[in-house]
Amino acid sequence: MSFRDKQLTEKEKAGILRAAEAVKQINGGKRQRVFVRTFGCQQNEADSEKILGMAVNMGYVPTEDADIADLIVINTCAVREHAEKKALSVIGQYKHCKRRKPELVIAVCGCMVSQLHRTDELKNKYPYVDFTFGTSDIHLFPQLLEERLKGGKRSFTLPPDEPAVAENIPIHRLSSYRAWVSIMYGCNNFCSYCIVPYVRGRERSRCPEEVIKEVRGLVEAGYKEITLLGQNVNSYGRDCSFDCNFSELLRRLDKIDGEWILRFMTSHPKDASFELIDVIAGSKHIAHQFHLPAQSGSDPVLKKMNRVYTREKYMEIMNYIKAKMPDCVITTDIIVGFPGETDEDFEKTLDLLSSVRYDMVFSFIYSPRKGTPAASMEQVPEEVKGVRMKKLLDLQTEIASELSAPYGGRRLRVLCCGRSQTDEGMLEGRTEGNKTVLFEGDASLEGRFVDVEVTQAGAFVLRGKLI
Ligand code: SAH
Ligand code: SF4
Ligand code: F3S
Repeated sequence: MSFRDKQLTEKEKAGILRAAEAVKQINGGKRQRVFVRTFGCQQNEADSEKILGMAVNMGYVPTEDADIADLIVINTCAVREHAEKKALSVIGQYKHCKRRKPELVIAVCGCMVSQLHRTDELKNKYPYVDFTFGTSDIHLFPQLLEERLKGGKRSFTLPPDEPAVAENIPIHRLSSYRAWVSIMYGCNNFCSYCIVPYVRGRERSRCPEEVIKEVRGLVEAGYKEITLLGQNVNSYGRDCSFDCNFSELLRRLDKIDGEWILRFMTSHPKDASFELIDVIAGSKHIAHQFHLPAQSGSDPVLKKMNRVYTREKYMEIMNYIKAKMPDCVITTDIIVGFPGETDEDFEKTLDLLSSVRYDMVFSFIYSPRKGTPAASMEQVPEEVKGVRMKKLLDLQTEIASELSAPYGGRRLRVLCCGRSQTDEGMLEGRTEGNKTVLFEGDASLEGRFVDVEVTQAGAFVLRGKLI
């Protein structure tokens, strides 16, 4: 399939515009409110901003109160069982809203609803859900809403075989200084534990001109931190004929003038190149921060996970990052208790943590996902997973405290992100490496770069004072 074939056709685009107008007409100028609840990763957060953008375009006003909403959209995640259970329980809570207000429309989207067994469940056990749509069908939202408002049947669409890349969907950004920019959708990797390729489809890259236009527009509008999103940004452009790989895209974006920071996530170690690291090291705007999910430190486990790299290859990249950018903040994802993981395998993961010395580790207990190869492999008992998880967290806390200690007394430039959610009264800032710094100050600093001197360097949070 060529790149052109992946774009929405003119007819499809016209259909969306027509549906948006039709929804406005049906609502007849009456003030309508939309509430969007988001689960899952940054990709879902970015998708929710598009859903809000389309809703605003159709005349809806965003609200944070589900009780007064006329339209509720629940954007779900399926990466672990807990995420699905949480979404289902929240959907259940909106039943009473519909009882009080029968004209309320409830839509469910995101990764969970791209699985047949889940759409069946919603269809049969959640009669107050009006329609669902998958991550590849976000642009169909106005049409699905129009159909339902016109009295059409409840609808439960499964993802298309060859999803398109929809440009120019309006985006209602929730921040005026930090923005997400999706550069590609889907994943081709099929790690044996992961549901994402099944629910988000194959990789589709946006064309570089569109990405550059969007980022330039954001910088010009005063955005200070822009994060490029994709399940595996390192394979950007491989599915298309345009002559621009991820390193080249970064090179072009780095030329955009202004006071801003560029981040990206996530990288797959199998595709992380020395070229990419060189580009970051020599850039003006790209943060010296690398999130490189290792998942395990044991080769037999990596093989069963279908990760396609060895520990040696992983360490080669890590060592190159450290050599080129000694100040680089390095983080990873680890799965604990993958099927067949022995004590020896797990020790190798602990050993990887000690060798790399990550600033932060996002660790997850393995959760079997229906339809993935690992779900039918021999499982590790839950108690064993729990014991291993605790060991890993203890080790990582020790490493993180040691790495944090030298930050004491340092002066750091941070982007002020407003009031802290965890420590009331304090402002929260993010360093270039994306570390959290808490400090006292006026809320009007939100969205600005400020200088802070670190007075207390904890394992997970730095505290400081404004200079
Ligand atoms: N595309 C990204 C990750 C997406 S999912 C990447 O490849 O890095 C985010 C993280 O969730 C993964 O890195 C993995 O550590 C974890 N994860 C995915 N599936 C999981 C499962 N079935 N059980 C537990 N953790 C899982
Ligand atoms: Fe899942 Fe692997 Fe794709 Fe990441 S790269 S989304 S872990 S299949
Ligand atoms: Fe969840 Fe889908 Fe993201 S499964 S982690 S919301 S890609």
